[in-house]
Amino acid sequence: MVFINKIIIILIPFLPRYVIQIFSKKYVAGVNNSEALNVVKNLNKRGQNATIDILGEHTCDIQICKKITSNYIQLLEEINNKNLICNLSIKPSHIGADINYQTAFENFREILEAANRYDNFIRIDMENSELTDLSIRLYKELKLLSDNIGIVFQAYLHRTENDISNLPENSNIRLCKGIYKESEDIAYQKHDDININYMKILKTAFKKDFYIGIATHDKELIKGSLNLIEREKIESSKFEFQYLYGVPMEKYIRQYKSKNFKVRAYIPFGEDWYDYSIRRIKENPKIASYVLKNIFSKNNIN
Ligand code: FDA
Repeated sequence: MVFINKIIIILIPFLPRYVIQIFSKKYVAGVNNSEALNVVKNLNKRGQNATIDILGEHTCDIQICKKITSNYIQLLEEINNKNLICNLSIKPSHIGADINYQTAFENFREILEAANRYDNFIRIDMENSELTDLSIRLYKELKLLSDNIGIVFQAYLHRTENDISNLPENSNIRLCKGIYKESEDIAYQKHDDININYMKILKTAFKKDFYIGIATHDKELIKGSLNLIEREKIESSKFEFQYLYGVPMEKYIRQYKSKNFKVRAYIPFGEDWYDYSIRRIKENPKIASYVLKNIFSKNNIN
């Protein structure tokens, strides 16, 4: 499979747009607010909560950062008007982190104020390790203004256990493995090492009484989390299970719901679907194998 992944990565620039679209359709909920919110509505009807993300990152044009900020505020209004159960996931580099800290902070603050108005919630997605310090600083400073904010931590980073220990009380985190390519100086590379760290961090975070979005599709981690929750008698108001829209998780969703655990789908959408899909495939060669599956498995094509 490693060999096939490498071939696909070499071929990507030559693949026609419609082939990439086959991949993206499964994981991306359209190009505009109404298409994305329609997906949210359908998932809400099936008892699932959602979080939406406007695709895009590393925006260096201040006007575009403002436009994205306004669109996030608009989304909060539409979510409220339509009575949807859906919050926002936002990448700092999409709204100014690559310009400077202050720009990102001001844009987040505006969105957070809107979230407060509608009694909603926003989460700071975690990007590559160059932005980890900035993202944690954003979280800590914004949390002083409102509790309607959360952040993401990546189990592959060596530093995460320590970062978690230094968070404010009553923190709200999402724990995922981490999707970016990071060097072995700062990040675990092996599946088993990442999983061991994931469970260690999860235990620490529960001990600190944080609210945790358990964001994984890995059956070992799902089993480990469910066992931990049962063993430590963690109340269901202290966590939720999260998955990426498009990843086949029906079996697990049934299991979560049978225990009355909250489930949330992460739903990306937007005009940047092509660049996003290409970047994701290149960054994580594993995803290349999903492209193959999507192209050749009829059942997977929407
Ligand atoms: P792993 O990669 O081992 O996958 C386990 C199994 O799940 C695979 O064998 C495959 O069957 C299936 N699978 C996983 N991904 C799939 C896909 N795309 N399509 C089809 N099947 C798939 N990362 C980050 O760095 N910053 C962030 O802010 C976030 N946010 C985030 C939110 C949510 C809700 C989720 C679920 C994930 C993220 N991530 C993220 C991504 C995360 O870091 C990680 O890269 C992916 O979730 C894949 O890791 P798993 O834990 O699923 O395990």
